[in-house]
Amino acid sequence: PGNWIAALALEALPEADVIGVSVEGRDIALYEVDGEVYASDNICTHGHARLSDGFLEGRQIECPLHQGKFDVCSGRALCAPLTEDIRTYPVKIEDGRVFIDMS
Ligand code: FES
Repeated sequence: PGNWIAALALEALPEADVIGVSVEGRDIALYEVDGEVYASDNICTHGHARLSDGFLEGRQIECPLHQGKFDVCSGRALCAPLTEDIRTYPVKIEDGRVFIDMS
């Protein structure tokens, strides 16, 4: 089960950084944290900013617009002005590609 969609070639994902991709028309952010890959919606839950334009430090992504921070592993909103967590997606790596479960 699940609705696994190929999002990116693993080698295209920068280490310890974030990249924005479009998966089935949805803006998704992919993160590399200590050899693990995580995925979330790319559009901030606070305003129309892309988290992939922000700054990843460890497992925290800082929104470029008002500096709200999310935990990219859990999607949890960590500080003001954020009031809503961000949706995260299960990730698997197969055949050198990053797949996310869009179901
Ligand atoms: Fe992201 Fe305001 S738009 S913190």
